[in-house]
Amino acid sequence: MADLQPIIHIDTLMEELKTLAGISEADPPVVTRVVFSLADLRARIHVKELCLEAGLSVREDAVGNTFIRWEGLEPDLAPVATGSHIDAIPNAGAYDGVVGVLGGLEAIRSLQRAGYQPRRPIELVIFTSEEPTRFGIGCLGSRMLGGVLTPDQARILRDKHGDSLEVLRTEAGFRGELESVLLAPGHFHAFVELHIEQGALLERDGLAIGAVTHIAAPASLKVEIEGEGGHAGAMLMPDRHDALCGASELILALEAAAKSTGTIDSVATVGICEVFPGAVNSVPSKVRLETDIRDTDGARRDAVIAAMKSAAEEISQRRGVRIAFETVNADPPATCDPAIVEAVQTAAAASGLSSRRMVSRAYHDSLFVARFAPVAMIFIPCRGGVSHRPDEYSNPEWIAGGVEVLARTLAQLAK
Ligand code: GLV
Ligand code: MN
Ligand code: MN
Repeated sequence: MADLQPIIHIDTLMEELKTLAGISEADPPVVTRVVFSLADLRARIHVKELCLEAGLSVREDAVGNTFIRWEGLEPDLAPVATGSHIDAIPNAGAYDGVVGVLGGLEAIRSLQRAGYQPRRPIELVIFTSEEPTRFGIGCLGSRMLGGVLTPDQARILRDKHGDSLEVLRTEAGFRGELESVLLAPGHFHAFVELHIEQGALLERDGLAIGAVTHIAAPASLKVEIEGEGGHAGAMLMPDRHDALCGASELILALEAAAKSTGTIDSVATVGICEVFPGAVNSVPSKVRLETDIRDTDGARRDAVIAAMKSAAEEISQRRGVRIAFETVNADPPATCDPAIVEAVQTAAAASGLSSRRMVSRAYHDSLFVARFAPVAMIFIPCRGGVSHRPDEYSNPEWIAGGVEVLARTLAQLAK
């Protein structure tokens, strides 16, 4: 497809990114768009309108995954798909996920402008709740598409207010049986996700494109530490079983385990710590932690989890606190399809852009689409590697480059 020249309207795309960032539960520049919040629902309507303006058709499944289709000359062939998410964690920025959705739309429009006619249908997917904020589990929509989260497991999910996924998705207008969400192997001929790198390697090396070969293995465990509460003045130190002191030791033990693997590929984070009863003059009786543990190597990630659990046993005995774990998810890593990775690098070369192969340390919907279709990802630089923060930024040149490479890759795969 060397003769194809996708025409990217980057100014329009940057405006669209800005408008979408303004649909937020927080004041600009902060983007917070939790799944099924008013902001999420308004953002979905806005993006669907842009897609309809481009002459595309829209289908939504029972959990809100949205499939936007550019019909192919041979409509019965399996589609080539792209896409990402538009939900955003609290206090996020404007580019995570959104670049893959609005950039995916612009890739399609650029091919339309170039007069390209796909033989296979091209679909743009907006996945429901890539972020774990509301239901505690990431990639909710793509997990269900890939059969990694079953309808029965989905039906028991609740948010922190006790509202169930079942009620929330129905109120959001997504009805029908959850059983119908699953997609069969081969449903997509290929899937390519455009995303900001969320790391600093491309910018540091002055490269425009990362062709992702592997996606690291994520895991998340909830931990409950139960000790004994009491009066902060009257309860003497030798008598204490302070749940927060136990939790603190556990957090540090997890950090030490991730640091001791001998590779920077192991990472561990405790991003949630709730203390009960949460009064300054009361000894904490209960603490709830949520941990996020990842590695490019699944077995090494599991060894870090095992080290945390054995530290917990020791802390529990020494401090007289009870520590219980609940695994939310422990997913294997994914390997991208070598032919699509190659297509991405060929497309980068045809666009006059430098590229390298790299690993995704963040998880993405591609991790679960890989269960039923060959996948690859296109990374573009983001300033300072910053992500999941309001100052997340990717410049128009980087974004235009990623969209052009995506457009060329889609054209190649759909021809
Ligand atoms: C995705 O947002 C991740 O946490 O990797
Ligand atoms: Mn994210
Ligand atoms: Mn993302």
